[in-house]
Amino acid sequence: MKNLIVANWKCNPKTAKEAERLFRKIPFKKEVIICPPALYFHLGKKVVLGSQNCFLESGAYTGEVSPKMLKSLKIKYVILGHSERRTYFKETDELIKEKVKACLNEKLKVILCVGEKKGEKMINVLKKQLSSFKKGVFAVAYEPIWAIGTGQACDPEKAEKALSLIKKETGSRVLYGGSVNSKNFKDYLKVGFDGVLVGGASLKIEEFKKMI
Ligand code: PGA
Repeated sequence: MKNLIVANWKCNPKTAKEAERLFRKIPFKKEVIICPPALYFHLGKKVVLGSQNCFLESGAYTGEVSPKMLKSLKIKYVILGHSERRTYFKETDELIKEKVKACLNEKLKVILCVGEKKGEKMINVLKKQLSSFKKGVFAVAYEPIWAIGTGQACDPEKAEKALSLIKKETGSRVLYGGSVNSKNFKDYLKVGFDGVLVGGASLKIEEFKKMI
């Protein structure tokens, strides 16, 4: 199994022109999944695309996109449960569970994010977040919230504990995310992660190309 790189652009870059420029510079690889804002999907013609989020179904749900819509655009991958969705958009484990189910029904490949806040006990948080996802997700990304966008990546040995727990609970691929860059990403592969979920560093093309 080859290692995966999932790029989470979040709500970036600021203009379609910049997005186009970035897409153009990314070398195509099957294992490199780019998750841009949905408005930019059509610009990513030569990359494997993923969605940063997805709702349950089509219908009267202003502002949302559905699993069927993603499928119809041949977008196979979808990130669910990112901590920014949980924090800023108040997504609960219950809603995320429903979203996972809806996406699996459409045969989308779900990348489920889990991780603890500073001061929380990792094992307890992960067990709770994973309790209803025993099977079917394509990958689980361990993203300790305190490591996201802070430049303070989690110590690989510590992350390895989360990795074994997630593997034991779900049997799926496990990615590491949280301040991953071209210097530290290999440390996570060395301890057994199946790839990385990259935020900030995926927008810096030279940095990102080094990882690819
Ligand atoms: P970061 O973000 O690489 O900028 O820390 C990772 C993420 O939120 O998925």
